[in-house]
Amino acid sequence: MARIRDDLRALSGYHSPQVDVTVRLNTNEAPFSPPPAFAHALADRLGSIDWNRYPDRAATDLRARLAALHSVPENWIMVANGSNEVLQSILLAFGGPGRRAVVFEPGYQMHAQIARNTGTTVEVVERGEGFLIDVDRALEALNDGPPGVVFVTSPNNPTGRSEPRETVRTLVDSAGDHLIVIDEAYVQFAGSDLLDLIDEEAPVVVTRTFSKTWGMAGLRLGYAVAPPSVVTGLELVTLPYHVDAAKLIAGELALDFIDEMNTRVAGTVGERERLRSRLAELGVSVAPSDANFVLIDTADRSAEAVWQGLVDRGVLVRDCSGWPGLAGRLRVTVGSPSENDAFLTALEEVLR
Ligand SMILES: Cc1ncc(COP(=O)(O)O)c(C=O)c1O
Repeated sequence: MARIRDDLRALSGYHSPQVDVTVRLNTNEAPFSPPPAFAHALADRLGSIDWNRYPDRAATDLRARLAALHSVPENWIMVANGSNEVLQSILLAFGGPGRRAVVFEPGYQMHAQIARNTGTTVEVVERGEGFLIDVDRALEALNDGPPGVVFVTSPNNPTGRSEPRETVRTLVDSAGDHLIVIDEAYVQFAGSDLLDLIDEEAPVVVTRTFSKTWGMAGLRLGYAVAPPSVVTGLELVTLPYHVDAAKLIAGELALDFIDEMNTRVAGTVGERERLRSRLAELGVSVAPSDANFVLIDTADRSAEAVWQGLVDRGVLVRDCSGWPGLAGRLRVTVGSPSENDAFLTALEEVLR
C-alpha cells in the first residue's frame, strides 16, 4: 500500500470553510469582475489560439508587458499559476531539506504550509507591537540556523498593515545567505510598494498576483519580480509549459485596463475606510488596514458565535480566532457597497 510521506501525514492542509451564502467576504477577492471590455477582447483573442500547440514556454509577451509595467528588464520576471505557485517555486528552489523558512505570525498561512510541503523547516517568529515585524527578533532568527527563505508580507494578511520600509530594508541588508520574499499580494491597496529594494545584487524577490486588485482570482495568475540569479532558480523548478495559452493572453490584455483597475482599487480603499469608521461607531475595535480587508476584534463575545450569527444572516467572513495571536479576531474582506452594508446590518443585529 502506497504511504503518504510521514511528515505530510501530520499536516492538515489548507482550510477555508466555503458556505453557500449570498455575501462572501472571506477570501479577499475583489467584489467585481474585470470590465466587460476585457471579457470581449479576451473572447476575440481566444479564437486565434493554436490549441494543438503548447503555449510559449518563456511567456515572452506577458513578461515583456510586466517588465515594462515595473521598468525592469524582461529576465527579472517569472510568471506562474497564481502567486501561490510562485511561492512554491521559491521554496522548491531556495528551501527544501536542510533549509529554513522564517515566517512571522500571525501571517499568511500558505507560506508555512508550502514550506512544509517542500520539506523546508519552518521557523516561526512572533510579530511585535501592532502586528508588525519585531526587527530584533527577526534578526536573531536570521542569524541563528541554516539559510533559506524569509517571508515578509506587506500589507500583511490577515492583520492588514504594511511593514515600515526601514524594517524590510534592514532585513534585506542583513539577509546573508537568505532569500527575502516580499509578498505584495495586496500592495496596490496600500499605495506604495517595495519593488525598489530589488537590484542585481540584492537577495530579494517580490511576488504579485492578479487575484486581488485585478479582480481575477478565477484566472490563477501571479508573478515574481527578482534579479536574474533568482529567476533562473525559479525556472529550474517550474514544469514545462505550466502557464497555459489562454492565461498568457488574458494577463496581457488585463494590462490594457490598468486605469480601470486603479479606479476600482480606489473605490475599495474608500469602502474600507467607510467600513472602519462605521465599525468604530458600532464600538467594534478594528485594526488599521492597508489592504482590502479589515481585522475586527469581537472582544468579550465569542468570535465563533459572531461568525455563526453572520452566516445565519447570509454573510461569510473569515474566522481567524484560532490562529496564533488572533484570539477573538474575524477578518472581513471589503466588498461592494451593498455587500458591506449587508455585513454592517448583520453585525449590528448580531451584536444587539
Ligand atoms: C498574502 C498572500 N499571498 C498570496 C496569496 C495567493 O494569491 P494567488 O491567488 O495569487 O495564489 C494570497 C491569497 O489570499 C495572500 O493573501
